[in-house]
Amino acid sequence: MKISQRVAGVEYAIRDIALEARKLEKQGKKITYLNIGDPLQYGFQPPENVKEALMKAVREGQNYYAVSEGLPELREEIARKEKRKGLGVGEDDILVTNGVSEALEMITASIVEPGDEVLIPGPYYPPYASYVRLFGGVPIEFSVDLHNSTPDLGDIRKKITPRTVAICLISPNNPTGAVFSEKSLKDLVDLANEHGLYIICDEIYDQIVFDEKFVGIGKVSGDSPVILLNGFSKVHLMSGWRIGYISFNQSKKLEALRENVPKLARVRIATNLPVQYAALESLKGPQNYLPKFVSDLKRRRDYTIKRLNGMGGLSCSNPKGAFYAFPKIEKNRYGSDKEFVLELLKSKGVLTVHGSGFGTQYGSGHFRMVFLPDMPVLEGALDKIEEFVG
Ligand SMILES: Cc1ncc(COP(=O)(O)O)c(C=O)c1O
Repeated sequence: MKISQRVAGVEYAIRDIALEARKLEKQGKKITYLNIGDPLQYGFQPPENVKEALMKAVREGQNYYAVSEGLPELREEIARKEKRKGLGVGEDDILVTNGVSEALEMITASIVEPGDEVLIPGPYYPPYASYVRLFGGVPIEFSVDLHNSTPDLGDIRKKITPRTVAICLISPNNPTGAVFSEKSLKDLVDLANEHGLYIICDEIYDQIVFDEKFVGIGKVSGDSPVILLNGFSKVHLMSGWRIGYISFNQSKKLEALRENVPKLARVRIATNLPVQYAALESLKGPQNYLPKFVSDLKRRRDYTIKRLNGMGGLSCSNPKGAFYAFPKIEKNRYGSDKEFVLELLKSKGVLTVHGSGFGTQYGSGHFRMVFLPDMPVLEGALDKIEEFVG
């Protein structure tokens, strides 16, 4: 039977590679999973007040189709959060989605036509390339200096063509933990403006930073066309509940897009309503779980990076945010980064993700591991990685 060729380009290395681990697990091998960026699979949980808000909404009958754009109180609270970060938005500028994943799909569907080019940071979170390809576009990676978290403006300039429609930024980045400075963000906004491009900025890790204060795109966006994507999976520990949002700034250049994206929101009906009540509570309620979460992660980051850099054959820049280490394989005895990762899995039972899954141009020759597990698990996994590369 006929299938669409569009889907042939869709890949998601983070989950695709887990199929190999599952095969080994079925044969009785114990696997340490360091592949998935989900704090909830490593012992973290949403705060009790947030769980309670979800259950209360269910108990009190909030079980019907919500309005497509999202619960008004939630949109208002999201706008307040983004305003505090510097983005001048109100309730009407927010569209609640089933995660940043759906937000990204809607935005890409709304701006990319066959042959259009979208600039994405190399290496990148895989759906950025997959969705661009799905809608017939071409993802173009630009270079980022990982040691000082700086996008290479010269490289971006060279890669802008008449077919370019948008520049995507992810700060803090997955898989590198790079966090862009206010100056870098401003330079990127100016460049996008100069060429009439949309800026799509993903800030899902906005409160998971370790060294410097986080600066959001809103602080520098002015009236340039900025589409902010954000969600509740990471900072708010609600990954399994699937909720995120799109936030449009006040740029006049977004007028047509603001008409179009809600059509996609209506055609998919709505986001899960009880979860919207939980998200509201997670924004309005106490935030005191967050400092501990971030300091636990910082301790794990510091340990992981020190261990990786102490191993001959690996080198790793210091991630300033998120929860990923992205070491470079300096001496690879295997044919590729994917073979390295598969061999590490088979011989030591540690599952990581091959760097080329995050883009072949800048991701190849690396692997990605999460530093989410608690210290004893992390220590055991890093011992095994050390034996493997030793
Ligand atoms: C940069 C980035 N954006 C989006 C997502 C997915 O977000 P959501 O769970 O809201 O769909 C992830 C998950 O790893 C991510 O790293």
